[in-house]
Amino acid sequence: MAARTRDLLELLRAVRAHLAGLHAPELARFLDEWPRWPCAAAPPRRRSDRPLPALRFLPGTLARTRALDRRLAAALARAVPDLVWRRTYSRAQVGARFLENYAWTEFVGPAGPVRCQRLSGGLLLLGPEVHYPGHRHPAEEIYVPLAGTAEWQRGCEPWTARPPGTAVRHESGAIHAMRTASEPLLALYLWRGHGLDCSARLVPAGAGSR
Ligand SMILES: [Fe+2]
Repeated sequence: MAARTRDLLELLRAVRAHLAGLHAPELARFLDEWPRWPCAAAPPRRRSDRPLPALRFLPGTLARTRALDRRLAAALARAVPDLVWRRTYSRAQVGARFLENYAWTEFVGPAGPVRCQRLSGGLLLLGPEVHYPGHRHPAEEIYVPLAGTAEWQRGCEPWTARPPGTAVRHESGAIHAMRTASEPLLALYLWRGHGLDCSARLVPAGAGSR
């Protein structure tokens, strides 16, 4: 087995072990969809020549993840260099500063490096003092912060601080937003249900307050 494949599969095992250890009822259906072993991992992809600016927060957030879960942090550190980091939105939509402080990567999913048709999952990275505006998507979602305590909002509900190790669920189509304060955020995300191939879409300000 190639080293990259071995690292990806160990990452999947470490993430699953971390999530199972949270004993959060809302995670049960996501864990039921977890890829069965042995699952397929895609061949290596060519890495991007220019890392996204938000990746400057990765070393610090991984170091803080180590205090939460040493096995998961080690698996992330080994697998992350081969993951492809992306941004969903354009500068016209969210502005230059947001784009410099935002990146995500998928490690499992229909088109991910580990293939799964029923579940997708990856990492979200946000810099400090960032407001990720309200957005929605068809898939049901769970976020689990690994490093950094951000505030999360669903619809018109109050903003709520969510420390590492808590599960934040958004049902299909729910409008949700996040904002960081002085510390960057590294969080796991999981999607299940329909629309795994549909990107998140921003919603106009105030749309969640109806
Ligand atoms: Fe989301």
